[in-house]
Amino acid sequence: MTDDRPYDIVLLGCTGFTGGLTAEYLAQHAPADLRWALAGRNRQKLEALRDRLRDLADRPGEIELLETDLTDRASLDRVAGQTKVLITTVGPYALHGEPVVAACAAAGTDYVDLTGEPEFVDRMWNLHHETAVRTGARLVHCAGFDSIPHDLGAYFTVQQLPEGVPITVQGYVRAGGAVSGGTYHSAVNAFGRARQTVQEAKKRRAREPRPEGRRVHGIKRPVHRDAAQGGWVVPLPTIDPQIVLRSARALERYGPDFSYGHYMVAKRATTVGLLGVGLGAIGLLAQTKPTRDLLLKVKDQGDGPTPAQRAKHWFRVRFVGEGGGKRVVTKVSGGDPGYDETARMLAETGLCLALDDLPQTAGQVTTAQAMGDALLARLQRSGLTFEVLEPAA
Ligand SMILES: NC(=O)c1ccc[n+]([C@@H]2O[C@H](COP(=O)([O-])OP(=O)(O)OC[C@H]3O[C@@H](n4cnc5c(N)ncnc54)[C@H](OP(=O)(O)O)[C@@H]3O)[C@@H](O)[C@H]2O)c1
Repeated sequence: MTDDRPYDIVLLGCTGFTGGLTAEYLAQHAPADLRWALAGRNRQKLEALRDRLRDLADRPGEIELLETDLTDRASLDRVAGQTKVLITTVGPYALHGEPVVAACAAAGTDYVDLTGEPEFVDRMWNLHHETAVRTGARLVHCAGFDSIPHDLGAYFTVQQLPEGVPITVQGYVRAGGAVSGGTYHSAVNAFGRARQTVQEAKKRRAREPRPEGRRVHGIKRPVHRDAAQGGWVVPLPTIDPQIVLRSARALERYGPDFSYGHYMVAKRATTVGLLGVGLGAIGLLAQTKPTRDLLLKVKDQGDGPTPAQRAKHWFRVRFVGEGGGKRVVTKVSGGDPGYDETARMLAETGLCLALDDLPQTAGQVTTAQAMGDALLARLQRSGLTFEVLEPAA
């Protein structure tokens, strides 16, 4: 990566809810000599944010402002060419994200986002992975609550087990939180794009090489009650298990035969039922434009939970790993998953790519594959908890 670029990190989308929290995190926690800039389409909003950051940080340093609009590719190319790492929180990614990935892949710039949209991630692999391999850009999607606790939690769990043996890991997610307008709009939009999601996944599967001589597969289990997990265990078909399996395909350490199951845990059956009905209704209404537009009116982009609300939010992911005759139980936990912890994870991912000594990778890569131990150490130092509850025995 070129060191002659003026910035280590550029943050795009910083005038929005999650981007604003990420800017605050960087202002308070990044090294004082980090060369970074705020990018967006509205100069006044950028200036107001910079003033807020000056009040917040003891040592804000000079934060540059860069004007760019996702609808203006030349302006994006200019920004991508000036930085080692570009972080973007502009979503829904399936609607707005592609030009940023294209600009970073072409410029050899490391790219980090917060998407949880499988269609977008697969489409970006189909369109830009090969270019990024050629230019050396690392394209890191899902660097927030989707999917870092799960990806690095599974990675951490695998490390507790013997090497060179078949390994099974199951992740059980519990969380209390709320969603921002941007997340809500991204979710509704994703529900309305089921057909495109299947098509992009199929296209990717047909072209993406599989690891030779090793098996990596998902575990499918029906909804069931599990006293050990403290309630009802429900398969969670988010992007997280896909990311864990991609890390397993990329890293030999996951062994010759790796399988992963991903679930949410709910105390009561009624919670499971209500969730199913709610998601089913949103899924149905998202299928046609008029009803989708009605759904989108429920919550405005730019809004999100208040600091007082976020202070009450939490998450815990418990992993059970088995391999080589050993069994280990680990846990990843933290505060507000969607925003405070997401801002921390996103910012630390950007810092890790910009500043740390990492294994050589390029193209679309997962957090475990590109940053593994270095990002794990950063997140632990910054306050996210990765712990072994029951050592391998
Ligand atoms: N997976 C996870 O763990 C996770 C967690 C949190 C958020 N997210 C995702 O992060 C994304 C952002 O969520 P949010 O609630 O922060 O959204 P938000 O508040 O609506 O912010 C959107 C940002 O995008 C900018 N933007 C929109 N169109 C643009 C354009 N054409 N050019 C330049 N900038 C543009 C907006 O700029 P203006 O201020 O100028 O309008 C704003 O800064 C969503 O996709 C959400 O799903 C994911």
